[in-house]
Amino acid sequence: MDKYCVFGNPIKHSRSPFIHQSFAKTTKQTLHYDTCLVELGSFTEAVNDFIAKGGKGANVTVPFKEQALTLADELSDRARLAGAVNTLTFKDGKIYGDNTDGEGLVQDLLRNTVQLENSRILLLGAGGAAKGVVLPLLAQNPKSITIANRTISKAERLIEQFNNDKLIVCGFEQTAEQEFDVIINATSASLSGKLPAISASIITSNMVCYDMVYGKSVTPFLAWAQLKGASRVIDGLGMLVGQAAESFDIWRGVKPSVDPVINELRASLNAE
Ligand code: ATR
Repeated sequence: MDKYCVFGNPIKHSRSPFIHQSFAKTTKQTLHYDTCLVELGSFTEAVNDFIAKGGKGANVTVPFKEQALTLADELSDRARLAGAVNTLTFKDGKIYGDNTDGEGLVQDLLRNTVQLENSRILLLGAGGAAKGVVLPLLAQNPKSITIANRTISKAERLIEQFNNDKLIVCGFEQTAEQEFDVIINATSASLSGKLPAISASIITSNMVCYDMVYGKSVTPFLAWAQLKGASRVIDGLGMLVGQAAESFDIWRGVKPSVDPVINELRASLNAE
């Protein structure tokens, strides 16, 4: 049976095995997908070991996405520009590295009927999560993507490599002077119960606010946006399933349907 896994540390609570086994069932594919806890410093060894045991592909999560980039023999453009790999494919003695996180986000936005073409997008954050979504967002032909970060120099560094005049950089305070159609929170602030310090004046009732993280209850950023009048808020659960669907397609050549899996995960989160 074809074997896949997700490498990470910690990894116990990963939803990836559930997601990929569900995809396998609905697309009638036979495969095995497991978690693989990797000791820090043992990533290369763990990957080679998995290949030796017949592994066909793997997802990579925190904190190994950058190491996966250097390990790959060949990289997709989106992985190279993201500076990180979340999908490895082992084929013909080679390791192929790709990054499906950004496409997972884009597909989730489109699934939620969010207009991206010609839209003014505000991307909050300039870390790994933000970097990974820039190229797939640009591919949707937005009017502009403004990248606002607490540390402006980091956002400036991020856009350098893209060389695209649709990309604009500013600090959180300067966002108050602009108008946006979509705000995407790619900071890790929600994870520690904090909010990026943007002005409530940019929130309008017809804009869409997206948080890349998700949880049992609404994230601090989305709760704040709702309070300030945003009518459409979306968390990152669909992005998680979306990036997995893209990986599954790379490995198996079939695009699974994401809705049943998102619904099941949402129900299990609500029941926690
Ligand atoms: P990730 O891979 O999740 O993006 P990261 O590379 O460490 O993680 O980046 C974290 C991002 O969240 C950064 O943009 C960080 O801002 P700085 O570059 O100024 O550090 C942002 N961030 C984290 N906590 C934040 C907070 N409380 N308010 C605003 N931004 C925050």
